[in-house]
Amino acid sequence: YFGSCYSAEYVYDVFNDEDRDALYYDTFPDDFKWSSATSSYQIEGAWNEDGKGPSIWDTFCHEGGHVYENHTGDVACDSYHKYKEDIALMANLGLKNYRFSIAWSRVLPTGKIDSVNEDGIAYYNNVIDELLDNGIDPMVTLYHWDLPQGLHDDYGGWMNESIINDFNDYAKLCFERFGDRVKFWITFNEPWIVALLGYESGVFAPGINEPGTIPYVVGHNLIKSHAEAWHTYDDQFRSVQKGVIGITLNSDWSEPHDRKNYKHIFASERAMQFSLGWFGHPIYKNGDYPEIMKTKIAEISAGQGLPQSRLPEFTEEEKVFINHTGDFFGLNHYSTNYVVNPTNENYELPGYWGSDVNVPSWKEESWPQSASSWLKPVPWGIRQILVWIHNEYDGIDSYVTENGVSTHDVYDLSDEERMKYYKSYINEVLKAIKLDGANCKGYTAWSLLDNFEWAAGYSERFGMHYVDFSDDDRPREVKDSAKLYADIIADNGFIED
Ligand code: NOJ
Repeated sequence: YFGSCYSAEYVYDVFNDEDRDALYYDTFPDDFKWSSATSSYQIEGAWNEDGKGPSIWDTFCHEGGHVYENHTGDVACDSYHKYKEDIALMANLGLKNYRFSIAWSRVLPTGKIDSVNEDGIAYYNNVIDELLDNGIDPMVTLYHWDLPQGLHDDYGGWMNESIINDFNDYAKLCFERFGDRVKFWITFNEPWIVALLGYESGVFAPGINEPGTIPYVVGHNLIKSHAEAWHTYDDQFRSVQKGVIGITLNSDWSEPHDRKNYKHIFASERAMQFSLGWFGHPIYKNGDYPEIMKTKIAEISAGQGLPQSRLPEFTEEEKVFINHTGDFFGLNHYSTNYVVNPTNENYELPGYWGSDVNVPSWKEESWPQSASSWLKPVPWGIRQILVWIHNEYDGIDSYVTENGVSTHDVYDLSDEERMKYYKSYINEVLKAIKLDGANCKGYTAWSLLDNFEWAAGYSERFGMHYVDFSDDDRPREVKDSAKLYADIIADNGFIED
């Protein structure tokens, strides 16, 4: 089968379009949502203040040996104390939306519903109220990787299906306490990363290195937890609170190296189904994993002499329960790869050659390099992936919930690479909407501030505001990219002078 963006109805071919990279002048739809994003562990600090319980990221950083120069999020940007200043920065940008996450262990220190911490609730109430006072609508992520340590210790966190109830209790608490003012909910940020970096390679917390079955079990529990929370919102809160709830998935775009070669197209489609499809297919399409994932993993598992597939199965009842549990599709997107079908000739290529997906992929030498090894800007990739999502998931409302670029840890307020990145990527989002009909409703820049970049600590800066991490006060300064973003927002797009 061919992926939807290669079908006859989708005629745009980046390689036959000489104007592919040209700036396109037009404006976004009037109700387009401009936003910028952060997450709790990456900015808040105050890791043990006012009753907050430890999370797996606190433990992982304190253990040492996992993060660049053993940096931690103990203080981070100190946004726990400086949130008013941060919101003033957003107001200056002209932002009408802000995506942030709630630290589960700040509101429930043990992770369990019997441990409500009113000081933690008060903090998020203050943030939400301050946002609304500034005309900014909150977009709230319930889980951006900082699992309460207690739940990991008790039963292995995401590896155990007991988590489904605990996550649902936590989600319900958030709907009850914040849902009168929060109308946009994201259950999970990047479940693909949670499963693979947390439990396959172990480079992220909780640092489990178990390639094989465990990452798929984690993915399974994440999907079921998402569905449960969506139903809780839908059954008990939606009619009064009138908000929307979805999930944020991440993927690079996988561009077939030769669009005339159907094997490259198959490889691209396989890569997309193993990344976005792993979670997107059950949630937005039919309640179950993509066929290609089920077949491949079953085949490989049999080859490994296993009695059953490493990919768990959903029961018929679960499929019905999971299907269509997303009001919108949240996309985090940063970069693109060329992909080909594996052959004896290209076995030296990097990418996922030899793993379950079995797709060799690479980034061209000639593409510029950011400060993050995995991130090379390829603006046309975001146009392709938005169209893929639109076609694959029946024109669902999509939101870019993250997009941005890193620079090295140097003091530089004239961040030209970032300006170039935002300008070109946002312009490609515009093309996806206006030229290709993608139903994209909003764009979110990662990130408002330089912050704790997980295993890279503070060595990679993604912010449109500079933060001085050597100063106890963590002063912020405006970078040029913030001004550029403010201009694009003010014009609601690109206006020819
Ligand atoms: C994805 C994650 O959601 C965010 O936490 C991270 O900082 C950015 N991408 C950049 O890597």
